[in-house]
Amino acid sequence: MNISVGILGIGSYLPEKVLTNADLEKMVNTTDEWIIERTGIKARHIAAPEQATSDMSILAAKKALADAKTDPLEIDLVILATASPDHEFPSTACQVQDALGCKNAAAFDLAAGCSGFVYSLIVASQMLQAGIYKKILIIGAETLSRIMDFSDRNTCVLFGDGAGAAVVGRVDEGYGVLGLDMGADGSGGKFLIQPAGGSRRPASHETIDEHGHYIHMDGKEVYKFATRIMAKTALKSLANAGLTLEQLDLLIPHQANIRIIKSAAKHLKMPMEKVWVNIDKYANTSAACIPICLDEAQEAGRLHKGDNLLLVGFGAGLTWASVVLKWAK
Ligand code: UT7
Repeated sequence: MNISVGILGIGSYLPEKVLTNADLEKMVNTTDEWIIERTGIKARHIAAPEQATSDMSILAAKKALADAKTDPLEIDLVILATASPDHEFPSTACQVQDALGCKNAAAFDLAAGCSGFVYSLIVASQMLQAGIYKKILIIGAETLSRIMDFSDRNTCVLFGDGAGAAVVGRVDEGYGVLGLDMGADGSGGKFLIQPAGGSRRPASHETIDEHGHYIHMDGKEVYKFATRIMAKTALKSLANAGLTLEQLDLLIPHQANIRIIKSAAKHLKMPMEKVWVNIDKYANTSAACIPICLDEAQEAGRLHKGDNLLLVGFGAGLTWASVVLKWAK
């Protein structure tokens, strides 16, 4: 890799309203104890009725642009990873491009479920390394509360809303993206799906009656997949980077379930002090999880120039992606 490429700035946004497990106890047949014990989640943030995915993306992106000291006109491309766009089309990325005044940027949405932010980082890094672009804004943002079935206890306790963003560009030689891995197994698509609303099952009275526009998940299958794939992709990225596990300073895993995170940490022999966890506060915000973690870690003073970070995502598709990053700020 001739051109070193990394994160120049980071930002995130969480909507104000907090929905606690106690609140959910009043809505569906669940308990605070069950949710904490089986998932590690205590609360999640929920977008206001007038807030959509682009609104949260814009707020996170403004913070990332300020952190990167980058003018919106310098952005060459906006990639927005989401499973809950404002509309089927136009892309949410185009709406964000307009609102931010990124007049010189191309823009597209990227669909890779919860792996979306890490997929976006990989796509962005390759376009930057090819010399096509100089600065790319990547965003992971979700308003999952709009597609959560609040009568299905198997799913409605698990997710939350939020957005995270990063400006990606050239960094000092030897810093930034050192290794990466991404993959997909479409045979598992049925395990995590929004069955209706697309060309397969367009919206109808029937699809609404069937709750077909909500998230449907076979939790056990996704759990098995997640515990299998996280360590595997992490080790591939590390090998790609030419680093060993001992050289890692911080693991930032997708926040789907504390048991999945602990299992991955155990496989990778990473002590939990070196693993960023915020699932208790925000639940699973899908593509937004990892950039929200990064922003939090930066604000907490946990990211130092030269630290080796490992980002690992997995999700609908099924998909997975990981990146080893030498922090460049
Ligand atoms: O971002 C990627 C997307 N998602 C994931 O990565 C999620 C992966 N999967 C998981 O995290 C876990 O499989 C879940 C948290 C979804 C479920 O945990 P589990 O330990 O696998 O529970 P289970 O599905 O085996 O359910 C055990 C019991 C069932 O009752 P019965 O059938 O044994 O009587 C469920 O009906 O727990 C019941 N249950 C609940 N009880 C209270 C399921 N959800 C709830 C709930 N409250 N919210």
